[in-house]
Amino acid sequence: MKFFVDTAEIDEIKDLASTGLLDGVTTNPSLIAKSGRNFKDVILQICDLVDGPVSAEVASTDYDTMRKEAKEIATWAENITVKVPLTEAGLKVCKELSDSGTMVNVTLCFSAAQALLAAKAGATFISPFVGRLDDISHDGLQLISDIVRIYANYPDFHTEVLVASVRNPLHIIDSAKMGAHVMTAPPKVIKQLYNHPLTDKGLAAFVEDWKATGQSIL
Ligand code: G3P
Repeated sequence: MKFFVDTAEIDEIKDLASTGLLDGVTTNPSLIAKSGRNFKDVILQICDLVDGPVSAEVASTDYDTMRKEAKEIATWAENITVKVPLTEAGLKVCKELSDSGTMVNVTLCFSAAQALLAAKAGATFISPFVGRLDDISHDGLQLISDIVRIYANYPDFHTEVLVASVRNPLHIIDSAKMGAHVMTAPPKVIKQLYNHPLTDKGLAAFVEDWKATGQSIL
């Protein structure tokens, strides 16, 4: 499973990239607004820091403007992934960009029907939002399971399932069991993956016992 981080904060991206476990970055207009920075500046900086796909989202909803924005964003870096919403206009833009070799992430996916359309439009990634579905008492992970199953029936679909709106480690583990290709999560949730109380307890005991030997490795 590929790990993307869902943030526009440079320090957080640097920190995670230093682990060697980071495969890409996703942003959205809300994360750009939160960063308080210029959209293009921050995206160019992220594209420099990370070799993998970096998602940058269009801002317009009408087809003509969205298409222009998408074509502009596509020129920013080799590893740019243009993010478009799952609307009729978004999928038209997705088809055109995918056909010309640009990576496209189709976002705001909340149903299997939408995911089917995105795959037919040649999306590189489909982003189903598990957390936001859970928030309204729908089963977000069931959607992941449905999409993975549907895509597996059609070898000519090359769209990767990118689990988004991840709120906790269980969203990641359960999606991995289902065979989702990618997940994007806030840094805090990625850090949570390291933790287990028995690791802390076991390590504390090893440190104490080692001290008692009076030895040193270096
Ligand atoms: O970037 C898309 C998605 O991951 C947003 O998540 O937490 O705002 O529902 P969230």
